[in-house]
Amino acid sequence: MPNVSGGPRRRSKASWILGIPIAAAVVWGVYASYAPPPVGPMGEVMAPDEDVLTAQIVNSGIGILRNARLKNGDGVYRRDAHAKNHGCALADFSVTERLEEPFRQGVFAGRKYQAWVRFSSGNEGANSDWKPDARGMAIKVLGVPGTKLLEGEQDAQTQDFLMIDNPVFFIRNVEEYARLTKFQGEGSQFGYFFEGKNPFKWRLREFRLGLGILNVDMPLPKALPATEFHSMSAYKLGPRNNVKFMTKPVACKAGGDVASRWVSWSRNGLGDDLRDSLKADAACFDLMMQMQVPGKNMPVEDTTVRWSRNDSPFVTVARVELKKQDIKPQMDNGFCENLSFTPWHALPEHRPVGGLNRVRKAVYQNISRYRRCMNGMFYGEPLNDGSPKFGSKPCSALAPVPEAGESKTAAGGS
Ligand code: HEM
Repeated sequence: MPNVSGGPRRRSKASWILGIPIAAAVVWGVYASYAPPPVGPMGEVMAPDEDVLTAQIVNSGIGILRNARLKNGDGVYRRDAHAKNHGCALADFSVTERLEEPFRQGVFAGRKYQAWVRFSSGNEGANSDWKPDARGMAIKVLGVPGTKLLEGEQDAQTQDFLMIDNPVFFIRNVEEYARLTKFQGEGSQFGYFFEGKNPFKWRLREFRLGLGILNVDMPLPKALPATEFHSMSAYKLGPRNNVKFMTKPVACKAGGDVASRWVSWSRNGLGDDLRDSLKADAACFDLMMQMQVPGKNMPVEDTTVRWSRNDSPFVTVARVELKKQDIKPQMDNGFCENLSFTPWHALPEHRPVGGLNRVRKAVYQNISRYRRCMNGMFYGEPLNDGSPKFGSKPCSALAPVPEAGESKTAAGGS
């Protein structure tokens, strides 16, 4: 109602009565969303029903990708997460010289490799880059000798490193993840966070972290070669140590700098920018590892806890140089889309650690096999020489998981 008296307007008693609880609820909500989780174990603890929850997560993943295919209407089965493909580039992967012994494990005991790097956005749909979303960077190191961890793909000569542009995940563990996917399967975006009528039980911390992952505080999409990416979950580094890892954009040449730039206004600005910038010049990242330190709050079973850099600084273990190149051909011929990254394409020295990583083993293998075989594509890993081709025959989604090393025909990329 307009203030017609001309004098200062006095608050009614009713507005005070309503205002105080609303203000208290806001204060409590902010406090609850920043409250730390209970301190978790430093080592691995497996939940008794993890296998059941894993099967549930795989099924809901297949449901999500089938729905996304129907929504897109182009007949293509895409990833149920990280479906938007900004491009993939060939890179030189050079291990840091004179690396200290605790870091000289697995691939880091070698010296020079080639790698494929795929950039993505996290959603199951290929949305505009202006829509809030996580960005992904996945590195596949080629020509890595040794038996790998993933059943059916033990002969693969690749080691993958998967990251997102946020230091922590928004879900703590497998049980919570299964709960989230249950709500997602029912088509409810917010049900997991605001479950039930009791606000004291709402998952406000997870909600805040989820907004962080979606970059809602950064409305303009930042160029991918200028973005930091994090493993968020933990991995072994040799027999004794656990680590988290990240990539940091760096200048390729001494004295150069990294352009920290926003991309164009277009719907596919991130991919367009990546293509244009790599056509003009190389782009570099340092791959860095952070060791778990005993006695500090660095759990492996809670991916929402950020390991403090003061407790353990990151150490550079390799340089990833995306070469100057035209990335359009491998985008156009489907090679990038058909790549499959999983933290379990790994040497035992880099074994993924913690519940969510354990679940990812079956989830990624099933989802990537399903989408690739349903598309009539190749199941398996690309050739070692850096050419955009696969070393296996097209597969059927109905057959058992094929051996990646099986039926090597050096078939071309899709
Ligand atoms: C916790 C840390 C996590 C990180 C850093 C991460 C990162 C990524 C990245 C970068 C990709 C895209 C890979 C590519 O370019 O092909 C990806 C794909 C995927 N992620 Fe995750 N993710 C995480 C957790 C999870 C969890 C907990 C699940 C489910 C249990 C999950 C399910 C998937 C699936 C199904 C794909 C698509 C796999 C395929 O079809 O190839 N992710 N993830």
